[in-house]
Amino acid sequence: MQTADGIAELLRLHNPDRSLDRRFYTDPDIYALELERIVMRSWFLAGHESEIRQPGDFLLHKVANETAIVVRSPNGGVSAFANVCRHRGSLICLEQSGSVRKFECPYHGWTYDIDGNLIAARSMPDDFDKSAHALNRVSVETAGGFIFVAFAPDPPSLQPARKNLSKPLKMFDTENLKVAARKHYPIAANWKLAVENYMECYHCANAHPDYARMHTLMLDPKRRDRIQGRMQERFADCGIEPYEVDRGPLEANADECFHSYWRVALFEGYKTGSRNGEPVAPLLGELRDYDGGASDFCFGPFSYLLAYSDHIVAYVFTPLDGRNCACEVFWLVRGDAIEGKDFDLDELTWLWDTTTLLDEKIIVNNWKGINSRFYKPGPFSTMEDWEQDYTRWIVNELRRDP
Ligand code: FES
Ligand SMILES: [Fe+2]
Repeated sequence: MQTADGIAELLRLHNPDRSLDRRFYTDPDIYALELERIVMRSWFLAGHESEIRQPGDFLLHKVANETAIVVRSPNGGVSAFANVCRHRGSLICLEQSGSVRKFECPYHGWTYDIDGNLIAARSMPDDFDKSAHALNRVSVETAGGFIFVAFAPDPPSLQPARKNLSKPLKMFDTENLKVAARKHYPIAANWKLAVENYMECYHCANAHPDYARMHTLMLDPKRRDRIQGRMQERFADCGIEPYEVDRGPLEANADECFHSYWRVALFEGYKTGSRNGEPVAPLLGELRDYDGGASDFCFGPFSYLLAYSDHIVAYVFTPLDGRNCACEVFWLVRGDAIEGKDFDLDELTWLWDTTTLLDEKIIVNNWKGINSRFYKPGPFSTMEDWEQDYTRWIVNELRRDP
């Protein structure tokens, strides 16, 4: 446990050229501070609009102690509510997703409509005011068909990300995708280790060779340039627009959700991220051919997309407590693609299912080592620059006056 002075000292002493001090990963007071300064203020990619097409269709998104009910409203919009009953606080929705006409609390039966209004509560006093007991709202926004939630009432603006990423989102016609599969990966480690691992590919060749044989991110940038150039020559023929944006953690303003986009070449012979490099689904949007690339989208500290030419993998990290987090992965294909005819679920999900399971192992090993008395912050390699920026951003956020 840290005193306030101890935390200030820890933040002051942080060396940005090295990994974080153990206390950043293990101290409950640091975690409490992160919850307020980072986690609750961040946007989380909760799902895709295609998952809740009809009024009353809902899905849940859990982060730390909070769960949002994300629901299609009768007017066609998307609403989000805290999954906490206004009577005595029970969770209301217990299913991960579904379709309802109203939300009924399982404890004493208070009932809410899908706009969150309390519509029934038995045996309450005559002067009880139902209208003062609607569900609490959670911030919700959409971008390119993706649904984002944030638990603070004043999260950083998503608007710059929506604007700057609109071109590539349109290119892959993300509004008209559908979710073909979703998987939940629990990770018994502090959340920062999971995201930091996603930020660097220094580990890729060692940890998950299947990914490494197709993704050039495992090369250092100098060796990648030639392959990257050949991919870019194919852009015009394939219907890919060259585009990059870097409003990353250290570039974005404090009041905007940081974001970035770039397209990275796969090794020659790989059309997409699949077992043998061959297509696993129909081309997305108006694309005409496979350029052999994959686009990285970042929406803030927890939510990422990887867009191949024929499918998109969404990667979302969620802190659960100081010692546990989860990675939610979902795979999206064209809205009109038919399972069994246009894509096979095992082939579609093979690469990132395999890779995520292997990543989970190295993250947990990292967590165990960091808990040892012998752990000391170590120096970053030249292939860990994003991770380095990310850890600097975390420390800056913790230092910032609330
Ligand atoms: S806690 Fe929900 S009805 Fe009592
Ligand atoms: Fe990895």
